[in-house]
Order: sequence, then structure tokens, then C-alpha cells
Amino acid sequence: MRILFVCLGNICRSPTAEGVFRHKLSEAGLVERVEVDSAGTGDWHVGKPADARTRLAAQQRGYDLSTLRARQVELADFSRFDLILAMDHNNLRDLERMRPPAAKAELDLFLHRYELAVSEVPDPYYGGAEGFDQVLELIEQASAALLDEVRQRL
Ligand code: 4NP
Repeated sequence: MRILFVCLGNICRSPTAEGVFRHKLSEAGLVERVEVDSAGTGDWHVGKPADARTRLAAQQRGYDLSTLRARQVELADFSRFDLILAMDHNNLRDLERMRPPAAKAELDLFLHRYELAVSEVPDPYYGGAEGFDQVLELIEQASAALLDEVRQRL
């Protein structure tokens, strides 16, 4: 199974989701069976590491995002991945516009899929440190639910 997390810049929310979910897969002994990646709808940060504030917030909860580098979503992603999970409504709309008609990937909004109290992971880029902690909190909750789904599907 292959899962892609998508946000705008691929330096805050989706790398967090990639790192947190890969950690959960590893704890569950499933890291060899599920491929996880992340990408951005925009190209401004391609090739760059995750935002320093994102890396710090992740590190404080035991996740290492240091090896991740930003990339942009490409058309091949729609046939390579089974599930593409967007962080907010804008990301989902952009993905729906890009999606080739015959592509196999299922598109969904990450938090909405698991009926969390909020449907979007808010963009933390222009806000304070608490926004980065909130991103972690929401992504940890949704990742636990995604792990349950993956266990059922494998
Ligand atoms: P992300 O956050 O989509 O969670 O990676 C952002 C990163 C950069 C920008 C916006 C959001 N930006 O405008 O450069």
C-alpha cells in the first residue's frame, strides 16, 4: 500500500504527517508493507528541508524529520499512490484539478476522513509556535486512525 500526504509547501504539515505516520508504522511492525511520502502543491520550497519550527516541534515529541526534502506533487503520483491525503480544502481542490481522469489514487481530506473535531490541519507558516504544536497534535490523532484503517486493508 502507498500513501502520499499533501500540503502547500511540503515543509510544515505534510512532512510532519510523513514522519509521524512512518513512526507509527515502524512501531506496528508495518514499515516494510506501506510506502509513505509527502509533497506540496506549490514549488517554492522544492529541495529544502522541513521548516526549522516544524522540525523542532516534531523533535520534542520524538520524531526525526531531518532527512526529508520538499518536492512538488507530480502527475505520476496519481497512479503511484493508493491514497492521497490532503491537509486542507485548498490542497484537496488543487489535487482534484490536477488529477488525471483514469488515475487510481483515492483523494481525501486527512482529518475529515477520520471525523476529527476539525476537518483541516491549519497552515502554521505565518503564525506562532503554538500552531506547530497544534499541527502535531492533530496529525498524531489522525495517524492513529489511519493506522487502524491500514491494518484492516492489509
Ligand atoms: P505547509 O506550510 O503547506 O504546511 O508546508 C507552508 C509552507 C510555506 C508556505 C505556506 C505554507 N509559503 O507560503 O511559503
